[in-house]
Parts: sequence; structure tokens; C-alpha cells
Amino acid sequence: MRKKIALIGAGQIGQILAMLAAQKEMGDITVLDVPDYVGPAKGKALDLMEMAPHGNYDANISGTSDYKDIEGSDVVIITAGKPRQAGMTREDLLNTNIEIIKKVANGVKEYAPDAFCIVLTNPLDAMVYVFHKVTGFPKHQVIGMAGTLDTARYRSFLAMELGVSVADISGTVLGGHGPTMVPLPRLTTIGGVPLTEIADQDLIDRVVDRTRKAGTEIVQLFGKGSAFFSPALSAIVIAESYLKDKKRVLPCAALCEGEYGVNGLFIGVPCLISAQGMEKIFEINLAEDEKAMLQTTLEAVQKTIDECNAQGI
Ligand code: APR
Repeated sequence: MRKKIALIGAGQIGQILAMLAAQKEMGDITVLDVPDYVGPAKGKALDLMEMAPHGNYDANISGTSDYKDIEGSDVVIITAGKPRQAGMTREDLLNTNIEIIKKVANGVKEYAPDAFCIVLTNPLDAMVYVFHKVTGFPKHQVIGMAGTLDTARYRSFLAMELGVSVADISGTVLGGHGPTMVPLPRLTTIGGVPLTEIADQDLIDRVVDRTRKAGTEIVQLFGKGSAFFSPALSAIVIAESYLKDKKRVLPCAALCEGEYGVNGLFIGVPCLISAQGMEKIFEINLAEDEKAMLQTTLEAVQKTIDECNAQGI
């Protein structure tokens, strides 16, 4: 029997998620949106069914606004919520998206209680926290997709600056999904060669700064809405690692209970993603300056969590 993938939110990211999941034959796909948007959700699903003959994939793809239709899903990917517009921070979305995530969490809890859940809605570190609190799912079953995207952006910018294949760049970005995130140049390698041995500090600073502001750079170019291709593929990479037990080590927002000295917050950390879900968090011995940056990002995340808690989460 095919696996079942539920996509909550049929907007910009949701539609690319559906296309990628279909092309990769990850399973049958249900795209769920609010009743007001169920027409486009069904239309996008049908369009993808009609793409299948040339796309060489077999999958049933359907649109719905009824949570019953996600029953028994293996993976749920959540993009329901408002995206940023130019001039907005991710935190500006907090109040609107908390209410949306609460509804989504209740629907997923009722109909897909065993699914591995990947949250993309911003502000990410807070929304995955809310989703986890409301569902009460075990921590290995819920992660936030942010670091996988932030690391992809970091690798892309390094490849552009250095004129090397992006495939040979290995590195990670820790912390919250925002301007305080912590790229780790000290641990970045280019085909095994340490970045710090082949790039000057100016280049590294430029790439770190661009990575931190990468989401905003796209929002400013779009004017309306935020990135969708790269967030979608980042989530699919995580979902594939789970479904195929690939055991990828990917930076994800995971619930830390002692790791990195953090207790009770979801922050971006390197995670082993296997058929167990978020099987393990890898800890890194950080240098003093990296610890200080992690502290700053934790304070930023804690601030949004305090706001969630103030709203009774
Ligand atoms: N249940 C299901 N879907 C919902 C709900 C809800 N309660 N509320 C809103 N939606 C749907 C909207 O109708 C819309 O179709 O979520 C979809 C969001 O799509 P877009 O507005 O196109 O936003 P998108 O670019 O996909 O980003 C979604 O991911 O990266 C984050 O910051 C981004 O928070 C934003 C989210």
C-alpha cells in the first residue's frame, strides 16, 4: 500500500510540496485548506493528476477541507498560515498564525495521531512549539523545518562566492529561524577542505550576513509573500529521510531537553531523521563566540514563546 502524505495549506509552498511529493512518488497526497480555498486546493490537486502522464508518476492527489480525509497519514507537512509581506518580520505573524496552528494541531491530533509532522509556518520556532503543545505528540514525531532551508541558503551563497559546486559544501546553521540564526563557518568544509583555510573573513562575514537575511531578501523581491521553492524541497528532504529511513543528519527545529543547555524550546539543531522520526540530536562542542551567538538566538526564540504562553498555549 502506498504511504499517505497530508499537506495542510494549499498555498505557494503547499502546491510545490504536492508537486515534489508526486514527482518523487512518496505516496498518495491529500492537500487540505480552509473551506474558502478548497476550490483552488482541489484544482491544484487535479492539475497535478493531469501532469502525471508526462511526469511519470503514480499517485492519487486530492484536495479537501475535511480533516477526515487525512486519516491515517504517515507524514503531515504544515504550511497553513499567513506568509510575510514586505516590511514584516516573521514575529509579526505570531497572533494570526497561533490561532491557525491550534486548529490544524487539533485536526491532525484527531485524524493522524501517528504521523511524523513537519511544521513550516512562521514564526517557525514558536509555531512548532504551539503545534507540539496542542497535539501532545512525542518529541520525535514533531519537528520544524528551518535549519535545513537556512543551511541550503548558506551553502548556495558559499557556492556562488567561491565558484565551486554546491554539492561539495558541507555545513550547518543552528538556532532560531530569523536574523539571530547561527551559521558555523568554523565547521564548514568544501570537499573536505576547511572553509576558514580558503576564504577570507570578509567573504565569510558577507555569506553569514546574507544567510541570516535570506528570507527577507526574497520577501523584498516578491513584495507580497515569501519563499516557496526552497522551503518546499527542504521539507521534502526531511520527509523522504523519514519515509525511506535514510537517516539523514539535517538541521531541524527539535525540542531540546538539556541539549545545548536548552530546556523546553524548539531550536535548530543537527537531527538524525530516520523511520523513528527525529531519532537523535547531535551536540557540538561550540567555541565561546558560537555559544554567545546561540545565547542571543535563544533569547529571541524565548521571547516569542513567552508571547505564546501568555496566550494560554
Ligand atoms: N487550515 C488550513 N489551511 C489554512 C488555514 C487553516 N486553518 N488557514 C490558512 N490556511 C491556508 C491559506 O488558505 C493558504 O492557502 O494556508 C495557505 C498558506 O499559503 P500562502 O498564503 O500561499 O503562504 P505560503 O507562502 O505557502 O507560506 C505558508 O509557511 O514559510 C511559511 O511564512 C510562511 O507562514 C507562512 C507559511
